[in-house]
Amino acid sequence: DGGTRLALRGDLLDFTHQPEWGAIESDAVRFREDHWLLIEDGRIVGAQPGSLAPDASWTRHDHRGRLILPGFIDTHVHSPQLDVIASHGTELLDWLNTYTFPAEKRYANLVEAETGAARFADALLAHGTTSAVVFPTVHKVSADALFAAARERGMRLITGKVLMDRHSPDGLRDEAPDFGARDCVDLIDRWHGVDRLAYAVTVRFAPTSSPGQLAMAGQLCTSMPGLYMQTHLAENRAEVKWVHELFPDARSYLDVYERAGLLNARAVFAHGIWLDDDDRALLRDSRAQIAHSPSSNLFLGSGLFNWRAADEANVRVSIATDVGGGTSLSLQRTIADAYKVQALQGERLTAWRGLHAATLGAAAGLSLNEEIGSLSEGCTADVCVWDWTQGSVAQRRHELARNLHERVFAWLTLSDERNLVTAYVRGIARYER
Ligand code: GUN
Ligand code: ZN
Repeated sequence: DGGTRLALRGDLLDFTHQPEWGAIESDAVRFREDHWLLIEDGRIVGAQPGSLAPDASWTRHDHRGRLILPGFIDTHVHSPQLDVIASHGTELLDWLNTYTFPAEKRYANLVEAETGAARFADALLAHGTTSAVVFPTVHKVSADALFAAARERGMRLITGKVLMDRHSPDGLRDEAPDFGARDCVDLIDRWHGVDRLAYAVTVRFAPTSSPGQLAMAGQLCTSMPGLYMQTHLAENRAEVKWVHELFPDARSYLDVYERAGLLNARAVFAHGIWLDDDDRALLRDSRAQIAHSPSSNLFLGSGLFNWRAADEANVRVSIATDVGGGTSLSLQRTIADAYKVQALQGERLTAWRGLHAATLGAAAGLSLNEEIGSLSEGCTADVCVWDWTQGSVAQRRHELARNLHERVFAWLTLSDERNLVTAYVRGIARYER
């Protein structure tokens, strides 16, 4: 039955492990120019040179001269914030109060939640993102709708209702006495481990959770195997100062989460800009990951993430759009911003480290590297086909590239979602240009 066998021809690029910081030549890079990628029943089963065409039992799509990558993994993004992307003029705390909180209130409504979740999931796919770790809103219905939208599309998605019970407006708070625990347990029962979905205990950030809610979240994390945890950490200087005032006994911002039992190998901390060596050591030892969000950090004026220091401390770092703090769902654009953030600090991010952080690196940080993040045999066929170039400027630069790194770096720097041809999820085309 040929219906379950799919062969895609193009230039295959992925990673076998983490490329070394700064290395242009790396044995972690696996580039198979002009190859067929073989997909059976939604799984990658192999690859072979373009000259060896698979037989007629395979549905063949010839994308010769195009780039084939694992689907991107966006490790930190807010679904309701598509409504406030590109809002002018403020830093984090003011931005939350002026734009974000009012917009998130809308998602208490079932129809808004469902249409918003569908719009968001389709937008991810249209940017070549096939997996994501997502913040919906405090409303149970918004998490429900997001899980349902991802399930319909077969996507690997990690989310959970946002926990917040103070310092936020009416209509956007969990109520005492249970701090939102009941909603979490209901959602975990309904969605965690169903198809490709997993639940993340989702603490918005320390200032919007009471100590009681933080403790509840910590207990939830250990209540069931495989639960993730996501929150924000040390993004903005005024925010960090506020956390010190709210939690005077804590050694650092990260320490607030650690004491609550929220620091573990399945934790994803967005930003982590304002950290010290002790924090980095804690992150390394716990095997938690930082979701570096350079577009957001530049747009909100939050600061410059020191990726080199994180690398030297062996802290796991993935890359994330943080829309609507970030201004694009495109991981290429986000990696290009990461390059510029490092350049401002005298470092040069390689194309390899940037791309790895959006694919295999993110997958490994989520303990999902046997399922997503690469084109290895046995992985689920979440795969995107990209044009190497759009337009004469990129075409010229592409032709003049002297080696593979130059070619891929130019692609990362000059391309975006307009280069996307097809996004496959589990071997099914879910976006086609
Ligand atoms: N910190 C707490 N909430 C948010 C949010 O929605 N976006 C960003 N960038 N930081 C936050
Ligand atoms: Zn965020």
